[in-house]
Amino acid sequence: MKKAIYPGSFDPVTVGHMDLIMRSAKMFDELVVGVLDNYRKQCAFSVEERVEMLEVLTKDVPNIKIKAFSGLLVDFAKQEDAHIIVRGLRAITDFEYELQMAQTNRQIDGGIDTVFLTASAEYSYVSSSAVRELALFGGDYSGFVPCEIMPYIKKGFDGSR
Ligand code: PNS
Repeated sequence: MKKAIYPGSFDPVTVGHMDLIMRSAKMFDELVVGVLDNYRKQCAFSVEERVEMLEVLTKDVPNIKIKAFSGLLVDFAKQEDAHIIVRGLRAITDFEYELQMAQTNRQIDGGIDTVFLTASAEYSYVSSSAVRELALFGGDYSGFVPCEIMPYIKKGFDGSR
């Protein structure tokens, strides 16, 4: 059985993430979306909210599981008995960071490989950080996130936190 991990912060999940998740789910028997729960990284959304958003969006796809993880990604992959990590590349600017991360992970555990999927061209400019900025300053982020999670973003940026 081919099982892969698609890890990320998903703060919040975007249409670009969802494109990669759905494409990856067709390539592997099981896809575990790993949501990073890192006390060192300040996120706009709690890990529970980020997991819930992804669960709502993937509820009809049986081979996708959403799981929070903390600590090292390779340890999470081992725990899940997965040997493949999927990451997306939007532009050359992503490459340096992604290459370093993939090589670091291989150095820690040679049994785990990273495969890269190129972002669909129409989503190549989409990022979670852009969504957060737009939401914070009252911009239109509707083209950046799946419509099902608009209420979560509105709630998260309604000025109450
Ligand atoms: O969505 P992001 O923030 O680009 O995802 C980054 C993520 C979660 C894949 C990365 O930060 C990660 O794997 N963190 C876990 C800690 C770890 O394993 N670090 C060593 C690899 S450099």
